[in-house]
Amino acid sequence: MPTTSPNVQLLFQPFSGGKLELSNRIVMAPMTRCFSPGGVPGPDVAAYYRRRAENGVGLIVTEGTVIDHPAAAADRDVPHFYGERALEGWAQVVKEVHEAGGRIIPQIWHVGMSRNPATFPESDTKPVGPSGYSAPNVKTGEPLSEQEIAYLVEAYGRAAGEAKRLGFDGVEIHGAHGYLIDQFFWEETNKRTDRYGGGLVERTRFAVEVIEACRRAVGPDFPIVLRLSQWKPLDYKAKLASTPEQLEKFLEPLALAGVDIFHCSTRRFWEPEFEGSDLNFAGWTKKLTGKPTITVGSVGLDTEFTQLFSEGKGANVNGLEGLLERLERQEFDLVAVGRALLADPAWAAKVRDGRTDELVPFSPEATKSLS
Ligand SMILES: Cc1cc2nc3c(=O)[nH]c(=O)nc-3n(C[C@H](O)[C@H](O)[C@H](O)COP(=O)(O)O)c2cc1C
Repeated sequence: MPTTSPNVQLLFQPFSGGKLELSNRIVMAPMTRCFSPGGVPGPDVAAYYRRRAENGVGLIVTEGTVIDHPAAAADRDVPHFYGERALEGWAQVVKEVHEAGGRIIPQIWHVGMSRNPATFPESDTKPVGPSGYSAPNVKTGEPLSEQEIAYLVEAYGRAAGEAKRLGFDGVEIHGAHGYLIDQFFWEETNKRTDRYGGGLVERTRFAVEVIEACRRAVGPDFPIVLRLSQWKPLDYKAKLASTPEQLEKFLEPLALAGVDIFHCSTRRFWEPEFEGSDLNFAGWTKKLTGKPTITVGSVGLDTEFTQLFSEGKGANVNGLEGLLERLERQEFDLVAVGRALLADPAWAAKVRDGRTDELVPFSPEATKSLS
């Protein structure tokens, strides 16, 4: 029997914070799967999440699931988070995960200007965004009106309310990766001159209104997680905040609006966020806000995830030593795992039980089915 490193047990300590109680520190990262025909997650989706819950994942964050707006999705077969049939499908997902002893929160999503009209030739719905920019210096649409913004804010709020009604354990707002909320954060895509634009703090206003609407819908005790990323798919070097001081100013209104846990998306968890300190993005966010944070990015693997999309690249198994050192220092509280959990539903149980020789590499094939 292989022996389990005592350090590994740090991942299996219970967590209590941000209004959540979890049996361990492992979070399944949100991963779009496009296996919900007509936007309805079926029994295969429920079974897919159930398998991860049965195998020791502490918290599942679902794939991005879109709010009630005609231009919210970028791909077909992405699950909806509105409408009777889709919500019934989600209720079944929650039931199965809970039966298996797991916890689950949906990631609510709107892609903004990232929607490519060519993907939906039958539709005349236009992509929407703060200023109509789909990339830096590429204006392909019109700025959202204040009325449209108010509609979107309410749609996020309704989705959060549905998450609570369906028995989810919280809700994650997708504010990362260059999608709608992040398009408001980023100066390259937000050129507005009204109250939704301006400096970094002013550019948080849309997110603040979304968080407040979600909080109104779920009440004071329901966990709200916000996912953020400095990097954008169009610019890996982009930074919303270039210094800890800027980051503090950026995070403050978001925390005040009602975020309980920040999910800090990076491609490699070991990269320091700013010069002069080893702390990563989750480390700085925890230090500056005092809120619990989730780290993510190449946990257990040797290649970062965007190379899957750009080059169809897989990844080899990697050790967890560096991660565990940071966890031991309490740099962050929770650890999200993406592709390793796609490749292997039993990843968490194998790590827990010291069965490291059974861990499998990540192959792009793993994205092609709901195994
Ligand atoms: C197939 C796939 C789909 C993804 N979809 C989403 C998504 O819907 N929402 C999101 O915030 N991140 C998404 N991501 C990013 C992951 O949540 C995670 O941050 C990334 O894969 C890094 O973790 P890893 O290195 O452990 O895979 C996706 C990643 C992959 C591989």
